[in-house]
Amino acid sequence: MEQIRIKGRKPLRGTIPISGAKNAALPLMVAGLLTDQPLTLRGVPGLDDIDTMAELLHNHGAQIDRDDSGDLGLTLTLTAKGPIDTVAPYDLVNRIRASVLVLGPLLARTGEATVSMPGGDAIGIRPIDLHIKGLEEMGAEIRLEGGDVHAKAPNGLTGANIRFPFVSVGATENLLMAATLARGTTILENAAQEPEVTDLAKCLSAMGANIHGIGTQCLVVQGVDALHGADHTVVPDRIEAGTYAVAAAITGGELVLDGADPDHLGAVFEALGHAGVNVSIGLGKLRVSHPTGQCRGFDVMTKAFPGFPTDMQAQFMALMAVANGASLITETIFENRFMHVPELVRMGADVTVHGNSAMVRGNPALRGAPVMATDLRASVCLVLAGLAAEGETIVNGVFHLDRGYERLEDKLRAVGADIERVGQPD
Ligand code: EPZ
Repeated sequence: MEQIRIKGRKPLRGTIPISGAKNAALPLMVAGLLTDQPLTLRGVPGLDDIDTMAELLHNHGAQIDRDDSGDLGLTLTLTAKGPIDTVAPYDLVNRIRASVLVLGPLLARTGEATVSMPGGDAIGIRPIDLHIKGLEEMGAEIRLEGGDVHAKAPNGLTGANIRFPFVSVGATENLLMAATLARGTTILENAAQEPEVTDLAKCLSAMGANIHGIGTQCLVVQGVDALHGADHTVVPDRIEAGTYAVAAAITGGELVLDGADPDHLGAVFEALGHAGVNVSIGLGKLRVSHPTGQCRGFDVMTKAFPGFPTDMQAQFMALMAVANGASLITETIFENRFMHVPELVRMGADVTVHGNSAMVRGNPALRGAPVMATDLRASVCLVLAGLAAEGETIVNGVFHLDRGYERLEDKLRAVGADIERVGQPD
């Protein structure tokens, strides 16, 4: 099994290039199903999840040309000329939850879809009831049987007024894509405003979709008969940027995050500022530093964008684990997103979980230990803790990291981390 070995307490200094956002690239790839014309995506991160999504879309009949010659990530050109295979099988859907995003586009393009229900994962049950309910409001007939979602819209989809009871990134993306080819107008109220959703909406507009309210909680979509191709560059990954900002702070170093968009990181930088971390923005670069590596404790509560992102919760907990003082971290988005806590405790962290809140009492003297990653963000939390800890940390379950962080150990080693990948791939 592959592992990441880290020897801690090395201040990181230098520049880290930020890759394209995984959570934007995945729905953008699915948007290729909405047209028979080529959709070119630039700055796509080289990640396992991207490869899995490409395999799924190929299974649906899309041709995918891949160019990794550029130094700004992959360029993918997706062409779904047809015939379109409308079945998303369990073995693929089970590997990547974002597969459920093909449901709306398949219905909109072909009038039918059979998509395996994505299972839950480490962070929660993760139902898709809002996706299904919204598509039914748009006229789809949906039946759940044998672990699959069987959906039909023989006369096409019809625009509807849909109000989400709470913010869902995936449901917003699924219904937004479906609405672009529906008859009439669809209004999505209480829509997600995450930058990745906005990036998808901008790409769909470039493909000929008629969308108003982009970037707001109310998206108004006027369906069109067909979409055409486009050439779109993926937004930078705000969670990767936030992760490396924490790496600078937790090691008492100074990092320039090259390519990050500060407009996507407001809540993260506000929290880091309260914790005593210096963040400066200039000439298109973000500079993050902390002279002593010892932050003040600060409370955060995860919220939908523009609030503090749930995908930064584990990383922030690593920083608070070595802070001078106590912090209360409350997770309001997922029901089980504290799987990193027992592993942090193995390294000497003082964390007590009460329901969806964790009380973190800072201990500047974390000690390296063998630890086990359980999900994508928990794994990078343990890497961050290892960068700050005395001695050697071995992170097991490296495959989680490869799903969402492009060349993590190369990027960290280039700015002074003593980190390497050891062992053999599974
Ligand atoms: C997206 O997941 C991201 N994944 C997640 O990132 C991110 O944590 C999440 O949004 C929240 O920002 C991708 O974009 C590929 P949701 P998604 O629908 O769309 C519940 C990472 O680490 N819910 O906004 O699945 C759900 O269970 C990943 O990169 C329903 O109850 O998240 C959760 O509790 C992890 N019914 C909450 O809503 C539904 O129909 C928010 O989920 C849909 C969601």
